[in-house]
Amino acid sequence: MTRPIVTAALLFGAAAWAADKPTALDERTKALVEGRLPDDPARPLVQGKCMLCHTGDYLTQQRLTEGQWQKTVEKMRKFGTPATDEEAKIIVAYLARNWTPDLPPPRLVRAPLPRGSLPHK
Ligand code: HEC
Repeated sequence: MTRPIVTAALLFGAAAWAADKPTALDERTKALVEGRLPDDPARPLVQGKCMLCHTGDYLTQQRLTEGQWQKTVEKMRKFGTPATDEEAKIIVAYLARNWTPDLPPPRLVRAPLPRGSLPHK
């Protein structure tokens, strides 16, 4: 059984690496910037209700205040999101405590245009 040792070594290595880099984003912020939904009791609800018509990128690229999230979720309910008032509250709270205006910008989804190419108008 070498697996626990390997795992421990990897964890130690990762911890040492992270400690070495004080400016590195913490795990949660890194996940958010990379477009992952952080683990949370509300995550399954958001996955179940907010990815019926579009991908999660639509959510994870936003940097909104709670009021803006509220409006967005209301708009999505008008579009047909099957969420009760109670579920909508939980969804808004989850989004508002994660994708806030002070979060670093999202990771680029598309590669930048090659040097010398004309930008799209
Ligand atoms: C019934 C289909 C549907 C569901 C379910 C849905 N959306 Fe959308 N969503 C859309 C459509 C269509 C657009 C693009 C139209 C637009 O931008 O106005 C969109 C766009 C968005 C955008 C882009 C910005 C904006 O305001 O248009 C965000 C953010 C978003 N949705 C979040 C959510 C969240 C959060 C949920 C879960 C509560 C959700 N969506 C569920 C249909 C849906």
